Amino acid sequence: MTSEGLADGPETYTVTVVDSYDLLSALAADAVSETLANRPGAALTLPTGDTPLGMYRELVRRIDAGELDFSQAQFFCLDDYLGSTPDDEASLTRWLKQVFLDPARLPEANVHYVPTAAADPQAAAAGYDREIAACGGLELAVVGLGPNGHIGFNEPGSGPDDPTRVVDLQPATRAQSAAYWDGKADIPAQAMTIGLGTILQAKRIVLIVSGAGKAEIVQKSLEGPETTEVPGSFLRRAGSRLEVILDQGAASKLSPRQ
Ligand code: GLP
Repeated sequence: MTSEGLADGPETYTVTVVDSYDLLSALAADAVSETLANRPGAALTLPTGDTPLGMYRELVRRIDAGELDFSQAQFFCLDDYLGSTPDDEASLTRWLKQVFLDPARLPEANVHYVPTAAADPQAAAAGYDREIAACGGLELAVVGLGPNGHIGFNEPGSGPDDPTRVVDLQPATRAQSAAYWDGKADIPAQAMTIGLGTILQAKRIVLIVSGAGKAEIVQKSLEGPETTEVPGSFLRRAGSRLEVILDQGAASKLSPRQ
């Protein structure tokens, strides 16, 4: 494993490149463990997708082994399809329940669901940000990176001040999402996501990316210009609050660093 702080000052983010997916997963789980050791009732958000599966397995293992107490954490779901409920086939909340929330036995009262089925979704999204603020803001946001640079469902076009809101999904994102259900689920055209602005206010942000297929979008996010075309490019604004954890494939297009 190589771990390096970038050279241009204490306020900058770190990049850690690991040799295995297991290590990437363990480091992401460490961020969760550290956050909850410091503040057992911390508010946090963790992503869905293929990348965090190993992290969730490790978190459940730690909980089962008594190494991690998740019982007081305030868990905020990151994103989901507009109008969806956990009864729908395509539901990231349902996915999260199966992969983590149920095996981790989180008290239902501590889980905050993205209000995708609210009668007034935009108002409900603003309410979700207020809920996060009422818990003291996000202590930790672990996020993945979409193939088009999205963070959560902050699709291209999203900016660094964007609140939690309803967004249009790009066709490629809908196709990517459908793959989670073997291409069989009908993916809505819109979603609700914790906003990039809300994520950027988190006290600690951990970006995890795995695989050479994301090397180019990782390079654009970390070394390209800040642009709404690549929402991930705004994460650098978090400075030292951002930690990037990559495997060798995901890091393979980054410039060599001193
Ligand atoms: C998904 C989710 C994101 C996730 C990203 C990457 O659609 N909305 O929260 O981080 O896209 O997913 P994966 O890890 O499967 O590549």
